[in-house]
Amino acid sequence: MPGIKNKHSIYAIFLVLSLIVISCNSTPYMQGQRLYTAKCQNCHMEDGSGLAALIPPLNSSRLLGSPAVACILKNGIRDTLFKDSTFLVREMPSFASLSTTEVTNIINYINHSWYPQFKEINILEVKAVLDTCQQRN
Ligand code: HEC
Repeated sequence: MPGIKNKHSIYAIFLVLSLIVISCNSTPYMQGQRLYTAKCQNCHMEDGSGLAALIPPLNSSRLLGSPAVACILKNGIRDTLFKDSTFLVREMPSFASLSTTEVTNIINYINHSWYPQFKEINILEVKAVLDTCQQRN
């Protein structure tokens, strides 16, 4: 029965197409997302909205997209940007153990989530930035 065979191939094509659509919808920055969930989300929240008067938001930060973000992740930041602000937690811990790859992936995940207009940053660009920011005391 040729009719049945055709039906089966239509189902098979449909299945393959659905799988392609599903995989395109998931974030391409899986490691960045995993690291964000593990290390950042408890302060900056899953949607990047921050925590009221305690923690600044990332999803509306003017700083995102700037190379300085790589240095902030590596070295932390203490009351420099928010000197005059009302945020109560004035220190972000350093994440010195993050590799350059991990920093790159976190930045791309954040940008992809909230600033899709930013172009993807690559590991060489991040390495160049990290070489300029070194230690903070
Ligand atoms: C313990 C809470 C905490 C954790 C965990 C944390 N942050 Fe922060 N983050 C802060 C605070 C507080 C500030 C503001 C510090 C300041 O300016 O003095 C900040 C500032 C920032 C800024 C600068 C925002 C701006 O608009 O100036 C970025 C970017 C950022 N954090 C990203 C991250 C990422 C990515 C992670 C995970 C690797 C992370 N943070 C983990 C508390 C935290």
